[in-house]
Amino acid sequence: MRYEERMIDEVQSLNDIVEVISSYIPLKRSGRTFKALCPFHQEKTPSFNVHPEKQIYHCFGCGVGGNVFSFLMKYENLTFPEALRNLAGRVNFALPEPTQRSTEEVSESEGLYEAYRLAQEYYSNNLKHPEKGQAARTYLKKRGFEEDILQEFPLGWATPEWRGLFEFLTRRGVKDTVIYRSGLALRSREGNPYDLFRGRILFPIHNLQGKVIAFGGRGIGDEMPKYLNSSESAIFRKRKELFGLHLAKRFLSREDSKILIVEGYFDFLRVYRSGFPNVAATLGTALTEDHVRVLKRFTHEAVFIYDGDQAGQAASLRGLEVFLEGEMSIKIVVLPQAKDPDSFILDKGPEEFRKLLDTAQDFFDFKWNYLRHRYDPSDSAGLLKISTEFIETLSKIKSSLLLDRYMKKLAKLLGVGEASLRNELVIFQQKIRSRERSIVSQVTSKPLGNEYPEEWTLISLLLEEPSFWEKEGTSLSSEDFKHPRAREVFQILERLTASGKEIGYSQVFNRLEEESVKSFIAAYSLTELTQKDKEKAFSDCLRKLKQRRVEERLEKLRQAIVDAEEGGEKGKVTELLQEYRLLLTQKG
Ligand code: CTP
Ligand code: MN
Repeated sequence: MRYEERMIDEVQSLNDIVEVISSYIPLKRSGRTFKALCPFHQEKTPSFNVHPEKQIYHCFGCGVGGNVFSFLMKYENLTFPEALRNLAGRVNFALPEPTQRSTEEVSESEGLYEAYRLAQEYYSNNLKHPEKGQAARTYLKKRGFEEDILQEFPLGWATPEWRGLFEFLTRRGVKDTVIYRSGLALRSREGNPYDLFRGRILFPIHNLQGKVIAFGGRGIGDEMPKYLNSSESAIFRKRKELFGLHLAKRFLSREDSKILIVEGYFDFLRVYRSGFPNVAATLGTALTEDHVRVLKRFTHEAVFIYDGDQAGQAASLRGLEVFLEGEMSIKIVVLPQAKDPDSFILDKGPEEFRKLLDTAQDFFDFKWNYLRHRYDPSDSAGLLKISTEFIETLSKIKSSLLLDRYMKKLAKLLGVGEASLRNELVIFQQKIRSRERSIVSQVTSKPLGNEYPEEWTLISLLLEEPSFWEKEGTSLSSEDFKHPRAREVFQILERLTASGKEIGYSQVFNRLEEESVKSFIAAYSLTELTQKDKEKAFSDCLRKLKQRRVEERLEKLRQAIVDAEEGGEKGKVTELLQEYRLLLTQKG
């Protein structure tokens, strides 16, 4: 279910971004933009910009940006529909009930949900099947999970067959294109379909609404890799999902419950079933700010339970900073060496696990203990190491009250003056700021634009100057864009034009899901260029893309010529050669 795009555009156009943001933080006019101290990171000089003409905002300090919806989502920690309703309410706009989305994009998601729903049915029946599922059930039993687990948690089994699922889905009327897009089956070099998961126990990954959007698969022998996950798709973004949160959310309330975070699927199952249903697992990836944002909707404290090994500790340290930045309270439980929550509970029982949870350390103590064991604070080199590493973490804290308290605590522990520690913090922040400034001066080197900077420049120029789009839009095609996100933006531009809509930042942002892409485009847009610079940059980038297209075509032709020659098709060779020569002259 979704709101119509028309409605989203309307609500957005009724809410001037300057007005909305200035109701939260004071804005000061400065030339064509408004400036403020960024509400999303700590700073002393304003690098937060709001652009009234483009109706976007961007912070040069921390890199966030987007339109009025993005701002509200981030500031008030809202989901998109919540932000939409909030802004509609602000201008007394009557929002109708959300309708089914109408575009192809929507049916893309719907198709994927259907494929995953059917796959879940198929895999879970396999596991229950007396013969087919036997080896898998034996494996589960050996690991201490009896069959009753399946009622509560519908695991699945992919048999070792090559295309059991593919054939099942085809029989159920799922189109090939949808199956391939879902990643559940792939095509061999000869073009034959085969299932991604074979001989694996499957953990269905659900979104918050409880729909299956991906699987994690564990081999039951010594398969490599041990775990295999669904690839990302229109309905599955790894960095946003937490395994089992759709169940755990029922047990979380803002008042008292904490979310326990574990690393593995089996850890989740074990902890969940041992009387701790307030648990979720990361999907073999690091924790992200998206995770924190989702979690904050349900609770305000997280407890990491990570392996006691080096990798587990490092993961905890990184995760901890993400939580500090997201202003969510975080505690860490360290497990004994070589144990994970699953093996700990199997070994010692739930009661011991509960006791272990009581030993959770807050981020400060955890970091202190970690550093103290690595470096010697009584040695001057050690002291410097500890203070620099600690200060880096503390600099993520946004509340000056909390920061103050932790600085005092650290000064005491290290036996140094608080003033000198503060001094170190200021120096560190200055370093960060100058590093950020040099990043701003070369936006193209930011993560999203590392690859294919010319595509991003082109995209931002198309948004900046609608006349460029009118003139050259049709001479480009989405295949000219190699970066999947740039391609997505280009396709939005095409769709907007097809439905006779205006082209602009807001219209595009309203149709883009990923906030990081909006931030990135917003950053690009604020580099001030003269009209002449823009034209020059535009034609340069356009030429690059077109050249690349010609080169790709040439490469294909070369291959075709070789093939035709081998096949002895003389006429075809001549024909292809002609086209080849023609293209070469165009390449110039
Ligand atoms: N993982 C993954 N891909 C891998 C390895 C791990 O996605 N190639 C993820 C899985 O979610 C896994 C988690 O990382 O559950 C932790 O991995 P690991 O500690 O290696 O496995 P365990 O969960 O302990 O698995 P098991 O108990 O089955 O050995
Ligand atoms: Mn394990």
